[in-house]
Amino acid sequence: MTTRLQYGTPAKIFHWLIVALLAVQYPIGWLMPDIHPGMSPGASMSFHVSIGIAILVLTAFRLLWRVTHPVAPESSLPAWQRLSSEAVHWLLYVLVLATTISGWLFASFRGWSLSFFYLVPLPMLASGNAGAGRTIDGLHQATEWALLLAIGIHIAAALAHVFVYRDGVMQRMLHR
Ligand code: HEM
Ligand code: HEM
Repeated sequence: MTTRLQYGTPAKIFHWLIVALLAVQYPIGWLMPDIHPGMSPGASMSFHVSIGIAILVLTAFRLLWRVTHPVAPESSLPAWQRLSSEAVHWLLYVLVLATTISGWLFASFRGWSLSFFYLVPLPMLASGNAGAGRTIDGLHQATEWALLLAIGIHIAAALAHVFVYRDGVMQRMLHR
């Protein structure tokens, strides 16, 4: 398997599509009504879950793409930046998966039945279990904040490359 020097078009499309979905997913998560025992999910929750599942599926395909089409870090970077950028990128994958799976588990433990954008029924991962639901709620919130922190570090690094180092790292995710 050859290691490429540049991200290809699929990697860029996956990257910016998932950025756009996350940019709507957080506001929906914060603005949708709080959960009460016995409530059934409304429209905003249905969209939150559907967008979240879309993020999960796209991330799984993207990860598969990344593993089969490896891209080397920018060769002009010092070793510590090459290592730390790789570490943050893998952490982002892990935290997106952890956030989406914990959310899916939480919705499952509520005993809800949901559909993917009102189109097809969404398979649930477990049956209703209030106690497990409370534990998982904390996990979804913890992973959602850890992901936001990792995204903040990632964006700060991208901006540092644009405005401080003024190198070509940002261009790697834009165009050739
Ligand atoms: C990366 C994708 C996701 C992000 C960034 C995200 C983010 C959020 C946020 C910000 C909240 C509000 C919680 C709070 O008040 O702090 C929330 C709640 C919730 N999310 Fe997600 N979510 C994601 C994926 C999912 C998925 C895939 C599901 C289900 C299939 C889901 C189910 C829920 C449920 C049931 C709640 C309400 C429970 C609670 O308040 O914690 N989420 N999510
Ligand atoms: C405004 C927001 C963002 C900007 C400006 C940005 C910028 C970049 C840049 C310039 C790269 C290439 C870095 C390099 O070659 O070393 C990159 C890679 C990457 N970014 Fe972002 N990014 C943003 C948001 C996000 C978000 C929200 C995620 C979370 C899922 C993310 C996940 C990744 C991953 C995993 C890579 C590694 C390449 C890959 O596996 O396709 N980025 N980003």
